[in-house]
Amino acid sequence: MKLKNKKWSLDKFMQIREEVLKQWDTGAEVDLEDAIEYHKSLPEQKDMSKKLIEAKEEKITLTQPRAGVALIDEHVELLKFLKEEGQADLLPTTIDSYTRQNKYQEAEEGIKQSKTEERSMLNGFPAVNHGIKGCRKVIESLDAPVQVRHGTPDARLLAEITLAGGFTSYEGGGISYNIPYAKDVSIEKTIYDWQYVDRLIGYYEEKGISINREPFGPLTGTLVPPSISHSVAIIEGLLAAEQGVKNITLGYGQCGNLTQDVAAIQTLEELAEEYLSEYDDIVLTTVFHQWMGGFPQDESQAFGVISWGGATAALAQATKVIVKTPHEALGVPTKEANAQGLKTTKQVVNMLKDQHFMPNGVLEKEKEMIKKETKEILNRVFELGKGDLAKGTVRAFEAGVLDIPFAPSKYNAGNLLPARDNNGAVRYLNHGNLPFSEEVINFNKEKLEERGKDEERDPSFQMVIDDIYAIGKGMLVGKPRT
Ligand code: 5AD
Repeated sequence: MKLKNKKWSLDKFMQIREEVLKQWDTGAEVDLEDAIEYHKSLPEQKDMSKKLIEAKEEKITLTQPRAGVALIDEHVELLKFLKEEGQADLLPTTIDSYTRQNKYQEAEEGIKQSKTEERSMLNGFPAVNHGIKGCRKVIESLDAPVQVRHGTPDARLLAEITLAGGFTSYEGGGISYNIPYAKDVSIEKTIYDWQYVDRLIGYYEEKGISINREPFGPLTGTLVPPSISHSVAIIEGLLAAEQGVKNITLGYGQCGNLTQDVAAIQTLEELAEEYLSEYDDIVLTTVFHQWMGGFPQDESQAFGVISWGGATAALAQATKVIVKTPHEALGVPTKEANAQGLKTTKQVVNMLKDQHFMPNGVLEKEKEMIKKETKEILNRVFELGKGDLAKGTVRAFEAGVLDIPFAPSKYNAGNLLPARDNNGAVRYLNHGNLPFSEEVINFNKEKLEERGKDEERDPSFQMVIDDIYAIGKGMLVGKPRT
């Protein structure tokens, strides 16, 4: 494997493709020409790329849940309910954990058991096992675009089957579906395997079918500073664009401080436009993820968290918002709870759709610092790769120049420590080996010292712990005296 950020030749792609399609029986069903024809036959309202472009033009924020169960009919019923009762604009298909691990035999058992027990024995939809026919049944039963959402380091076969099955959007990336999800898969391998996915989507694009690609923004979901997730999102966007992907949605997970979150969504789009300007005809949109950290058990408190996420997404004018449910602390939600989260969000988003978060000194300062931090990281990544982004990313993880807090992967340095400042914005308590300038280091330090003064303690690891548990106790900042 000679990793470099260069568009794969069709020959190379087709050669590897032969092996990929052999990974499970249903791979043999995939015929790219037939898949292209199938997409051409689908009505416009099932096209994710089109829907997102429209929303961006209209400056509205679309709602999307997460959802997936083992069997086809039940999955369709669930998604119909979320569309009709929950008023979801965009639909998901959350893939089960076995499929994410490429354990298709176990997924097959899960399907069998679900039929016997008459309830879902998998935590998502096993799309590879259901094959193209099963996927097309889902797509044909619904009148909204459907996205594949998962967490799969090697997602090549899943992409082949779901895209040929009519899905029009695919989540993930070589960093964002590795480091937060896997312990010992090398970053080199996942970047390579995701180049395959992006090249496949590049192939569809060449044939006139625009499939939306969405790197997974929130990463580990807890106390991830915006400049970390922005760096990863922009790298994955660039790697995808190189393989021919055109319609890209970059994501960010809510940190909780309104100014920082609005600044994050705005800078994500602005920075990405700058970095991706060398590629033609790219359409960029943004997705805001409601709170990805631990949730309060109490459902009323959970609605508070959900509403605040909806409000922030609308004020930031994210193109879409991924919605949480009042069952988040418990596990996979019922369809009713899922619809409740959607309706709560829709109400807030509608109420705020004509209001914008006005530029002001604080917002502009926040944006300036996010941009500075992100650029300092990305500059070093390019340097380490001697201009090649794929190589640079591998080396940056080795050197701790890219470092994701609280990640399980042994390929991640894990030297970073984030903590909230006195206003709840996420800062660097310890920036590990991130290549930051004095200005950035001092800015973060001063923000945390301000909090320390207020709490009469030195900024330390205890603050990090307090911050992680704060939301469950009904707070954003883990202040000892409240
Ligand atoms: N249905 C609904 N939500 C799901 N999640 C994971 N699997 C499913 C599913 N099958 C949600 C979790 C968490 C997020 C990462 O995905 O509850 O909010």
